[in-house]
Amino acid sequence: MPDGLTLFERAARGERGHPTPVWIMRQAGRYLPEYRALRRKVDFLTATKTPELAARITLQPMERFDLDAAIIFSDIMTPLEGMGVSLRFAPGPVIDDPVRSPSQARTLRPLDAEEHVPFVTEAISLVRSELSHDRAVIGFAGAPFTLFCYLVEGGGSKDFMEARSFLRAEPEAAAHLLELLGTSMARYLTAQARSGADAVMLFDSWVGLLDAGTYRRRVLPLLQRVVADIKAEVDRPVIYFANGGNHLLEEAARVGADVLAVDWTVPLSLAVDRLGTATVLQGNLDPSYLFADRATLGSAIDRVLSEGAAAAAHVFNLGHGIHRTTDPDQVAFLVDWVHERSAT
Ligand code: CP3
Repeated sequence: MPDGLTLFERAARGERGHPTPVWIMRQAGRYLPEYRALRRKVDFLTATKTPELAARITLQPMERFDLDAAIIFSDIMTPLEGMGVSLRFAPGPVIDDPVRSPSQARTLRPLDAEEHVPFVTEAISLVRSELSHDRAVIGFAGAPFTLFCYLVEGGGSKDFMEARSFLRAEPEAAAHLLELLGTSMARYLTAQARSGADAVMLFDSWVGLLDAGTYRRRVLPLLQRVVADIKAEVDRPVIYFANGGNHLLEEAARVGADVLAVDWTVPLSLAVDRLGTATVLQGNLDPSYLFADRATLGSAIDRVLSEGAAAAAHVFNLGHGIHRTTDPDQVAFLVDWVHERSAT
């Protein structure tokens, strides 16, 4: 194990230590008054495209809380603009001209990270140079199927029926689109690692909509290639978040990521039973516990810590993004409680 690694990186690389590292999905965002103050002056897309602003927002939660990692302030949809997609946020992503035909699918171009997303890599360099060396910087991208969902649907949806139908009606165009997204996101994450990200994460927010067979045939081989391509270029832990993937757990563990992140419907102890003790897990407190009294919140955290103890290593997180009405003082309590209760 190389010296000088952060607590987070040690866990992500499979070393069990104390205390358990903790960070929070969507830790930079609207539940923080300082984020809302900044957003009154600048829209979301501009904030993500201005490296100084993106870096400042990334560091906001790091100044308030004793978090072990910063995740770069951006969005999974950001790189799609460079690929030829026009995009707006309201507040979720909206694509006014979604991909609904093979000919539209063919108009998208592969991402050139240097040309299309220099603001992201610059923001990462800025954060890495400003953040203390005992804290990690996490870069991220959307996983191919999740980006495919938004690209075809044109925005958020309960069931992404347009996207799932496209997968069945136009299998070749869908495969082309997924491949293009996979290749592009591998390049994107490699560029993020090269500019200072200590780890990279793939968010598969909608993969739970797929049955295990479809996942195995149409998504898993691509994800395996994405992870292998990143690993061939940079020595950085890769985290894979299979949201809603309780029924895909065994498949998701075969992606080749160093860390498997799961939502709160998968008890970590059950994940260990199913996957064995060699897998590093990230997660998975239900974000709604942040609205409970402290005794309830504290014991829910204790439960996640004790269930995570059987894994190769554990990175504490929520099971999904923090809700925008969460009280920041509850987050401070959570972070300190995780560290205190896992200190020895
Ligand atoms: O702090 C962090 O986690 C880093 C920044 C980050 C954002 N989005 C900022 C954001 C990250 C990692 C994301 C990932 C993301 N974006 C995902 C994957 C994770 C997940 O939640 O499953 C998805 C599906 C998206 C797409 C997206 N972007 C949605 C659905 C929304 C609107 C809903 C919401 O939570 O507000 C966004 C907008 C967005 N992305 C905001 C932020 C802070 C709110 C924008 C604003 O300020 O109005």
